Amino acid sequence: MNLTADKWQDYELLDTGGGMKLERWGGIILSRPDPQVIWSRSDPDAWKKADAEYERSGTGGGKWHFNSELPERWTVGYGPLGLRFIIEPMGFKHTGLFPEQAANWEWMNRAVADAVSHGRRPEILNLFGYTGGATAACAAGGAAVCHVDASKGMVTRARENIGESGLADRTVRYIVDDAFRFVAREIRRGHRYDGIIMDPPSYGRGPSGEIWKLEDNLEAFVASCMRLLSDEPLFMLLNSYTTGFSPAVTENVLKLTLPERLSGKCSFVSGDLLLPVSGKCSAINISLPCGSYAALTGPGVSVGSPG
Ligand SMILES: C[S@@+](CC[C@H](N)C(=O)[O-])C[C@H]1O[C@@H](n2cnc3c(N)ncnc32)[C@H](O)[C@@H]1O
Repeated sequence: MNLTADKWQDYELLDTGGGMKLERWGGIILSRPDPQVIWSRSDPDAWKKADAEYERSGTGGGKWHFNSELPERWTVGYGPLGLRFIIEPMGFKHTGLFPEQAANWEWMNRAVADAVSHGRRPEILNLFGYTGGATAACAAGGAAVCHVDASKGMVTRARENIGESGLADRTVRYIVDDAFRFVAREIRRGHRYDGIIMDPPSYGRGPSGEIWKLEDNLEAFVASCMRLLSDEPLFMLLNSYTTGFSPAVTENVLKLTLPERLSGKCSFVSGDLLLPVSGKCSAINISLPCGSYAALTGPGVSVGSPG
């Protein structure tokens, strides 16, 4: 089932075309490359309003060009969950937030809040946690969250975002570490989590510096994470931004690695993560696919699956 992040007010996908997307982040309009956009622009005039544009270079990188004087960083709110995030035009065309993830935030927040209302205090592990969108959503629902990312800068930003969201008093452990090594250590320590979120990179380094390739290493890593799930888990969420992977691929990985002790107790769903395109495209209902998700919903959840 596809999930559409359609409850944003501070964020809007204004138009897409020519390999680019035009987005409004609060009052500021940015234009960024997107490889999925193989069609032409619907509203060429709208692009003249861009305050900054990320231009790819022929050598793989790229840089921002500014048409207006912009603050170094500003914040946007996600009203439905009362969250706030810092936005900053950064390297690799990043802004510090994946707005399509809001659809995942909603159901995870619901599952956590439901467990809390039944007297539980869910522990959630957010691996490759980036700037803390999912961490904030789970903390807002009442979970204790362990946020792991190898980048110190990203972990600092996650902490700032939790503060911006008014959640500084919640139980969040911030860990700057390699997610593969951290998971191996947690298995040795016998730690269990009620929910695990992960967004593994397509390509990188494994625990001993070896090359990590999603297609070669994902199954073994998800199997390790399954060992960390409690006996009454809420969920495991596997996001993928690897172009060319169908959502059913990651759903299959979840199903194939499910431990015997949870067999027959979980349901599975997967799909694209979509952002609706507003403006001239809203009449014909165009959405931009921004990666995919696969989710396991466990016996600890009584509010249904994502969607
Ligand atoms: C695509 S982002 C995750 C986005 C996140 N799902 C969100 O919605 O905000 C990938 C993150 O993984 C981190 N990362 C990459 N390799 C890692 C590793 N081996 N261990 C831990 N974090 C890693 C990066 O620092 C980056 O913050």
